[in-house]
Amino acid sequence: ATSAKSQYELQTLTTWLLDLEKNAVIDNELAAVISSIATACKQIGSLVNRAGISNPHGLAGPENGAGRGPEEAGRHLKRGLRKLPAQQWDGAGSGAAAGLGPGVGLAACGRTGVIASEEEDLPVAVEETFSGEYVVVFDPLDGSSNIDAGISVGSIFGIYEPSPECSIEDMDDPEEMMKKCVLNVCQAGNELLCAGYTLYSSATILVLTVGKGVYGFTFDPLIGEFILSHPNIRIPDKGKIYSFNEGNYQMWSEEQKKYIDSLKYPEKWGGKPYSSRYIGSLVGDFHRTLLYGGIYGYPGDAKNTNGKLRLLYECAPMSMIAEQAGGKGSTGFQRVLDIVPEAVHQRVPLFCGSKWEVEYLESVLQGKP
Ligand code: AHG
Ligand code: MN
Ligand code: MN
Ligand code: MN
Repeated sequence: ATSAKSQYELQTLTTWLLDLEKNAVIDNELAAVISSIATACKQIGSLVNRAGISNPHGLAGPENGAGRGPEEAGRHLKRGLRKLPAQQWDGAGSGAAAGLGPGVGLAACGRTGVIASEEEDLPVAVEETFSGEYVVVFDPLDGSSNIDAGISVGSIFGIYEPSPECSIEDMDDPEEMMKKCVLNVCQAGNELLCAGYTLYSSATILVLTVGKGVYGFTFDPLIGEFILSHPNIRIPDKGKIYSFNEGNYQMWSEEQKKYIDSLKYPEKWGGKPYSSRYIGSLVGDFHRTLLYGGIYGYPGDAKNTNGKLRLLYECAPMSMIAEQAGGKGSTGFQRVLDIVPEAVHQRVPLFCGSKWEVEYLESVLQGKP
């Protein structure tokens, strides 16, 4: 935000959004969507804080299965969504969105037309009574395998405008409607209006971009507000940390191995060995990379050629944030934001962080000396 605040004034997410609106950077519709996401993240934050008390048997659930934590987190984000014929038709996970009654989440904010979640098989359309313009994609509880050990988890989100040829108004045929929902959701990251994440850690921190730099807000539990704590985050051009799941080393390509080896044995080019840090929560690993610099990576390997992370809910939003902070997001061969998704749960390799490390990785993977 551009308004001049003295060092004695705090800015909340709300006043920051209102300033952006006043300066015509975003409109009030988008501000309402961002605000409803922030409120849902407060709810998810309290779910995470109380996880050990209210769920003594654990929240994580099976890997990429319907764990209670991710399911509950997703419900907070969707809150207010009603059942549509399209959901009855799919018979799959999105039925969980139904019949939730009043709430503060995305559907209730009345500006969202289509919602897609990492935790559900198919996107869902918001009932007409609530529906609006925006297409929202999210990963409600990322790093969920960490939750029962009290380790940082997060939520990731992205906001798109509906693609012009994909109106879902006045559609009776549920199959047609689902197709349009999928088309609305399958947009390249370079179309994102907003991307962000919330980290639930020693503090709850919301980081977001609307395409004009990256801003971080720390939740103040005393007043229940997100306070602007990290104005205009810039990622260092070069860092000292790499963040990969090295347990997969033996499945990596020779080039991938060569890259990590060279960070550990930098004698050849005269540097110091990098430090290794890996939590296994993308949001936590990314947030550290954003602030301290270095590289986060989830490469493809012999078993999973496209790695593990999802383009729509994880790779594209994080890449937009990395770029907006002066860093990069790459598959090793292509800018992540240029990829047009072919499926809602498509995976792509992700390397993001400081410019130097990502460009060096690209040159090694592409076999350039
Ligand atoms: P999710 O909990 O949303 O399914 O995402 C898990 C992802 C991501 O958070 C993390 O970076 C990665 O999985 C960790 O994978 P490994 O356990 O293979 O390292
Ligand atoms: Mn998952
Ligand atoms: Mn995830
Ligand atoms: Mn998830």
